[in-house]
Order: sequence, then structure tokens, then C-alpha cells
Amino acid sequence: MILILGGAGYIGSHANKLLSQRGYDTVVFDNLICGHRDFVKWGNFVLGDLADRDQLRLCFQQYPIDAVMHFSAFALVGESVNDPAKYYRNNVMHTINLLDVMREFSVQYLVFSSTCSTYGVPISIPIEEDHPQAPINPYGWSKFMIEQILKDYDRAYGIKHVNLRYFNAAGADPDADVGERHRPETHLIPLTLDVAIAKLPEIKIYGTDYETPDGTCIRDYIHVTDLSDAHILALDYLREGGNSDSFNLGNGEGYSVREVIQMAEKVTGRRIRSFETQRRAGDPPELIGSSHKAQEILGWRPQFTDLHTIITTAWRWHQKQ
Ligand SMILES: NC(=O)c1ccc[n+]([C@@H]2O[C@H](COP(=O)([O-])OP(=O)(O)OC[C@H]3O[C@@H](n4cnc5c(N)ncnc54)[C@H](O)[C@@H]3O)[C@@H](O)[C@H]2O)c1
Repeated sequence: MILILGGAGYIGSHANKLLSQRGYDTVVFDNLICGHRDFVKWGNFVLGDLADRDQLRLCFQQYPIDAVMHFSAFALVGESVNDPAKYYRNNVMHTINLLDVMREFSVQYLVFSSTCSTYGVPISIPIEEDHPQAPINPYGWSKFMIEQILKDYDRAYGIKHVNLRYFNAAGADPDADVGERHRPETHLIPLTLDVAIAKLPEIKIYGTDYETPDGTCIRDYIHVTDLSDAHILALDYLREGGNSDSFNLGNGEGYSVREVIQMAEKVTGRRIRSFETQRRAGDPPELIGSSHKAQEILGWRPQFTDLHTIITTAWRWHQKQ
């Protein structure tokens, strides 16, 4: 059985669906601090906090867990700058709880949600896995620290892990069973769709003077179902004896903020008002990942790669809300 930590959240709920569709038994463990009970539509559910080792132990006692997917974390970059303690505690300290309970129960396999934020400001594009890791905010550092801890736990205790360094997770389940629902929402696509449904008056464009073709930041959007697929492949890889490793999960294509807004107008058929404002500190002009390694070693073949499809799935979900 697969334990999905944070499985009531955006990406974890999509992974839960795909795992269930492929015949895996799952148990979601989530404190619902950012997650949603109605996102747990498959498998079992335990309401619990990673801060509490005893709750976690009970879950490992109750279910025959043999592998873990670890999505639970706080993930707001700006908040991590203002309140780093919150991030180091929940993301790093609580992950150590998990690893120690895994040791107690001799569970050996972990797939970990890492991030392209561990690379900091890129010195080369597309970013490969051996690009230097130099985070520029506590959120990125918290993930980088976990990657280091995992390396040491593998060496000393034999816990095998895969770090999946996502670029911008986007889109929603093609059947709109689950989707993106962050509070507060900070991601460009759902915010743009909020303008389309008149929930927001306009979308803010932070910086129009970057050295990019249209002056706005370029990001790599990867569909959440493709991310979920990579988690299952990573688990198969570990179970087949693969060594602990790190893989980027991105589209390999970059889209500017303006391109995303224009595509959202095309998909929704509605005009989306925007407001141009100052750059935000710490926003690199361009973030594009190379995922060749995941394709070669894990056999990952993303299906929902074009922006039109990504936004169409997000729109279907958004309208259902
Ligand atoms: N969304 C993205 O674009 C993106 C990009 C890179 C990396 N990531 C990483 O992917 C993971 C999932 O992201 P998401 O967008 O699905 O986030 P999310 O907030 O929707 O999901 C996280 C889940 O973890 C749960 N959680 C948090 N702390 C917990 C704790 N102490 N105990 C139990 N449950 C806890 C939350 O309730 C929530 O359901 C995170 O680790 C994030 O850092 C996300």
C-alpha cells in the first residue's frame, strides 16, 4: 500500500487518482491545513499531522504501507521569507519524523516532491539536474535540505528515494474530478481563470522589462497528471532496484506571462484584463527545465504538453467550482 502524505492537496490528490486507476491501494495522510477532504476520493484517509509521530506510527500500524509519496509541505515562497521558522519546521523537521517512522517500520521507498526552486537563479537554460543548487529563499532551502537529509538517510539506513524537482505544476484532472484549489492562490493560471469568471478584476503582470521576447517572465508549465505519472514511474524504478536519484519534471517549453494570459483568453473565449506592475524581487526572467533524464531513466512520456490542453483542463475544473 502506498502512503500519500499531503494527498488531500493539489498534486497529491491527482497522484492518488492515478495510483487507484492503476490498481494500487492507497492511504492519504493529511492534516487538511491546506488540503481538502473532498479531494480524497480514492483509497483510505487518515486525518493526521506529520508533526505528531504517534499519529504517523498508528497509520503505519493500521495499513500495510510499503512505499511513501511525500507531497506535504508549505509552498508559498513569499511567506517563507517572512516566516522561515514555519517552513523549516513543517518542511524539514516534520520530514525527519516521517523518515524515522519509515525506519521503525522498515519502509524503504520514498518519492519526494522537490522543486526547481532548489536551483535558485539559473546560470544555464534549460536547467539540467547537475545545475548548481543555490536556493534564494527559505522554501527552496527547506527542499534542498531535505534532499541532503535523504542522501544521508540512504547512506546510513538504506532508505531509497527519488527527488522529483517539479517546475510549475499546472492544469487539472481531465475528468475534473480534482483540480487546483490553493488558499491563497498564487499561481498564474488559476488566477487568470479567476479573472475570466469575474472573481478577480484583473491579473497582475509583475515586470514587463525582462530580457525575454515580450518582456514578461517565462516559466515551464507541467501538467499535474503527467507529474503524477512520473511519481508512479519513480516508485517502479526504486522497486526494481534503482539507486536514489533526482529528476527534473518540466515541459522543456517556456511560456511567458503574456502568452499564458492570451491562451487563457482563447480557451475561455473571454477577455482577461491585466495590470502591469513592478518586478517582484527574486523572480528569475526564465525558468525552463530539461526532463531528458526522467524520460531516459524512468521512461516518462508526458501527455498533456501543450499550453492549450493544460489550460483547457484547468478551465473545465475551474468552471465546476
Ligand atoms: N504546485 C507547484 O507548482 C509545485 C511546484 C514545485 C514543488 N511543489 C511541491 O509539491 C508538493 C505539493 O504541492 P501542492 O501544490 O499540491 O500543495 P498543496 O498545499 O495543495 O498540498 C500540500 C498538502 O500537504 C498537507 N500538509 C501540509 N503540512 C502537513 C502536515 N504537517 N501534516 C499533514 N499534512 C500536511 C496540506 O494540508 C495539503 O493537503 C509540495 O511539497 C510543494 O512544495 C509544488
